[in-house]
Amino acid sequence: MKRLFTIICLAGLLLPANLSAKKQETVVNVIPYPQSVEIGKGSFKASGANFNCDQNIDAKSQKAIKEFADKITFISGRTCSFAVPVGLANSLSDGKMKGFVFLKDDSLAPEEYYIDIQKKSCLVKASSHAGFLHSLATLKQLTGTSIFGNTVKPDEKFLFPCVKIQDKPRFAYRGMHLDCSRHFFSVQEVKKYLDVMALHKLNRFHWHLTDDQGWRVEIKKYPRLTEIGAFRNGTVIKKDWNSNDGIRYGGYYTQEQMRDIVAYADNLGITVIPEIDLPGHMMGALAAYPELGCTGGPYQVWTRWGISDQVLCPGKDAMFTFLEDVFTELMDIFPSEYIHIGGDECPKSEWEKCPECQTRIKQLGIKASNGHTAEQYLQSYVTARIQKFLNEHGRKIIGWDEILEGELAKGATVMSWRGVKGGIQASSMGFDVIMTPNTYCYFDYYQSQDKDKEPFGIGGDLPLEKVYGYEPLEGLDQEQQKHILGVQANLWTEYIATPEHLEYMLLPRLDALSEVQWCNPDRKDPERFKTALKDKLFKIYDTMGYNYRNF
Ligand code: ACM
Ligand code: ZN
Repeated sequence: MKRLFTIICLAGLLLPANLSAKKQETVVNVIPYPQSVEIGKGSFKASGANFNCDQNIDAKSQKAIKEFADKITFISGRTCSFAVPVGLANSLSDGKMKGFVFLKDDSLAPEEYYIDIQKKSCLVKASSHAGFLHSLATLKQLTGTSIFGNTVKPDEKFLFPCVKIQDKPRFAYRGMHLDCSRHFFSVQEVKKYLDVMALHKLNRFHWHLTDDQGWRVEIKKYPRLTEIGAFRNGTVIKKDWNSNDGIRYGGYYTQEQMRDIVAYADNLGITVIPEIDLPGHMMGALAAYPELGCTGGPYQVWTRWGISDQVLCPGKDAMFTFLEDVFTELMDIFPSEYIHIGGDECPKSEWEKCPECQTRIKQLGIKASNGHTAEQYLQSYVTARIQKFLNEHGRKIIGWDEILEGELAKGATVMSWRGVKGGIQASSMGFDVIMTPNTYCYFDYYQSQDKDKEPFGIGGDLPLEKVYGYEPLEGLDQEQQKHILGVQANLWTEYIATPEHLEYMLLPRLDALSEVQWCNPDRKDPERFKTALKDKLFKIYDTMGYNYRNF
């Protein structure tokens, strides 16, 4: 035994310095992994600890810190006091600090945070709400998973390992999308989705709210959008597109519910970016207001999947009035800097036949050129007109990469979904880009080759390892790289009807995504990542009641 011990110690000495350091770091099971981790000896006991919070910290962060303290109190049954003493920062001297101390430090970048855990204290510094939330997300993963539950555990000490962490994200935009049109998810389910995003330090929720299969946004000026457009007369059975279960299906979010979700997300440090997909993917709206289409209908909310040829008619001024009215109400609900206007998969066959669309093309002097048809330029006209309207109201647009077809006005942000080529093209043209290539970021794809053993995916093959291996700046020169705002994954829900299935498609690929979004490439390590999943995150999901794909 003694000999074995000596061999192990010697092996430790012979390891290259960086390898042994890396090995030591794996003790911290935190996802996404912090930029810098320095492990100390021993641990800090948080049950019954005092919380002291700098008075300069904003009210939202103070509330989040107090909730953290209250949770430790509730579960352990030992009271954590919470105070905001005047002049806290000046009263601290090294060695004397006890309990939790949260300080505002303006020298840190907006999302940066610093944690120093010693045997008697835990010091946290950040300069913003986002920074403090990130510090809390990390702290929660450092201690017992019961922090994520609601079960009283009098023996729970809430031990934190002694460690110094300095951390900030690689990308500013860290998004996750959810399609609530193909299948509808309740306010509670959306909030649960946001909770797990926040746990992984994501900060943008792209909410796909309208499509051919259902309009989900209450717009007071157009009540038929939700009376008619929010319900379809059946859904495809399994994967047979020629089938229809004949069961009326639908739902929508009231303006009050959407405001509630915006506020809930804001408390988690997440901005909600709503999408009204236009001018295609509009059967929900057309069924409600057929006069907005080229033929005048009649139209039906689609009961099948795919891409409808029937789209909005840009030959009609009333169509633009409609969109401006919709966006006016939408902007009142969603304070986000960006509004997503869709733009994907808009067939042009109706526009080619429509006298009003053709008149518009003539009036505008649009001609086919540069490999683009006149109708593609007509879509560019729609994009530009809506962009101008939103810009005049202080907002910016995001669109799917089809908005590059024809011409695109300055200031638009392109979401590259048909692989990475749209993102490369857009960034070389000087447009900001969010990378969301289907090859790495479509979470409706299968997670395993063994498809028969999996719940339905739309197709494709996107295992955890492939998401983890995505490098968003690959193939981009330095100038192009400056335009990559960040990365997002998309979860389309044609074949996902239940929250359990949704969570299974999301987890743990969201974990992999979060490291792509957050970590500098040299901080990624597939082995450390998988160990953290098994040893920590899956236990958190069990405690919080999330379904996930185990391995
Ligand atoms: C898309 O997947 N149609 C953006
Ligand atoms: Zn038309």
